[in-house]
Amino acid sequence: MRPHIGVNEKNHLTIGEVDAVELAEDFGTPLYVVDEMRIRERYQEFHDAFDDYPKVELKYAYKANTSLAVLHILRQEGAGADVLSAGEIYLALKVGLKPEQIIFTGNNKTDEELELALEKGIIINFDAIHEMERLERICVAKGKKAMVSFRVNPAVSPRTHPHLATGLRESKFGIPAEEALEAYTRAMESEYLEIRGIHMHIGSQITGTKAYEEAASKLLDIAGALKEKLGLGLEFIDFGGGVGIRYEKDKPYITPRELAKKLIPIVESKIEKHGLKEPTLYFEPGRYIVGDASILLMRVSTLKQTPYKKFVGVDGGFHVLPRPVFYGAYHKAVVANKAGLRGEERVDIAGNVCESGDILARDRLLPRIDDGDIIALMDAGAYGIIMASQYNSRPRPAEALVNRGSYELIRQREGIDDLINKQRVPRRLR
Ligand code: LLP
Repeated sequence: MRPHIGVNEKNHLTIGEVDAVELAEDFGTPLYVVDEMRIRERYQEFHDAFDDYPKVELKYAYKANTSLAVLHILRQEGAGADVLSAGEIYLALKVGLKPEQIIFTGNNKTDEELELALEKGIIINFDAIHEMERLERICVAKGKKAMVSFRVNPAVSPRTHPHLATGLRESKFGIPAEEALEAYTRAMESEYLEIRGIHMHIGSQITGTKAYEEAASKLLDIAGALKEKLGLGLEFIDFGGGVGIRYEKDKPYITPRELAKKLIPIVESKIEKHGLKEPTLYFEPGRYIVGDASILLMRVSTLKQTPYKKFVGVDGGFHVLPRPVFYGAYHKAVVANKAGLRGEERVDIAGNVCESGDILARDRLLPRIDDGDIIALMDAGAYGIIMASQYNSRPRPAEALVNRGSYELIRQREGIDDLINKQRVPRRLR
């Protein structure tokens, strides 16, 4: 059990010392609940893990969860931002980050997005040489210099779901490692581009350190070659995000401390080997920071026993939490109002989307379930509410924040109006 999760005397699940059943009753379901102290704890843990290296900055990966309250918590902790769209740039600035704390990665950036990042003075991390050429044209037109870096694809293979590996040789992301020298040479030729660093992000939900070590080593050798061949010194080396969390007991996992123990010696030995000036190390954790801080509460509506299975039907589906269906992801299921009771029956938790693939949890041993019970899916904080949609014309869920026994709503549930309020019906069709 996580430190912020517990069971109270009523046998109810608690999160941040708040009764989950009470939350479901107060705010309705489906409901995401995020624990503030857990986010702070995880951020500190990640940060402290790299204490042995003098210059480390964490850029929280906004894509994992951009609820404003969460962004403010992380700003207070000192986190910068890894952003990938004009929307995320807007959010990072809105919560008060300084432009220099923000790195704009992301692929297929539009001219408008490049222009915005340039205007605001945000580091632009190129995903392609073509993107550099397009930004340069914009810089010339505006007479403005940009701070830039390149995302390099180190061609490594972390063990994770195929959709979550981004640094494979055949991935769409970054520029191939063998073209890095050429890319930096071209950037150096431009008086409008100020080169600041180099970046990689090899994937997400990574549970071993090997691929990181291999990729980091390659990246530092590229930094060495840039120094030796072009006389270029980099201010930062960005190792991206990707540290996985323990969704499932008995599965392998790594901690930031273990990663630091492997990476820092590599960094130090390469600095010495190539005579580099000590770069600042950036990391872009998303899932590690917010992943296990949230749970998703859904209410049981329909029970169905077939000759083959028992289905527990809930009032949410993959439009609320897509991860089980998109990536075959495991989220532990708990009956929140019977959390202290022993498992008695094996069930599938079925979502309410009209598709047979919409099973949120398969073959789980749970206490006897009745209609009206509350099912909690654990570790739903990363890529949960942020990936929710209105599919099947269901408004998106609400989100509550808990903090040491108190709670409040941080995201209102969408209403039925939100399904139509951006639409227009041509007069002739009415
Ligand atoms: N930096 C970059 C450039 C990224 O693309 C990502 C995630 C991160 C950092 C943060 O990675 P993390 O520390 O969260 O693993 N929707 C999927 C995950 C997609 C990850 C995309 N990129 C899921 O639900 O598992």
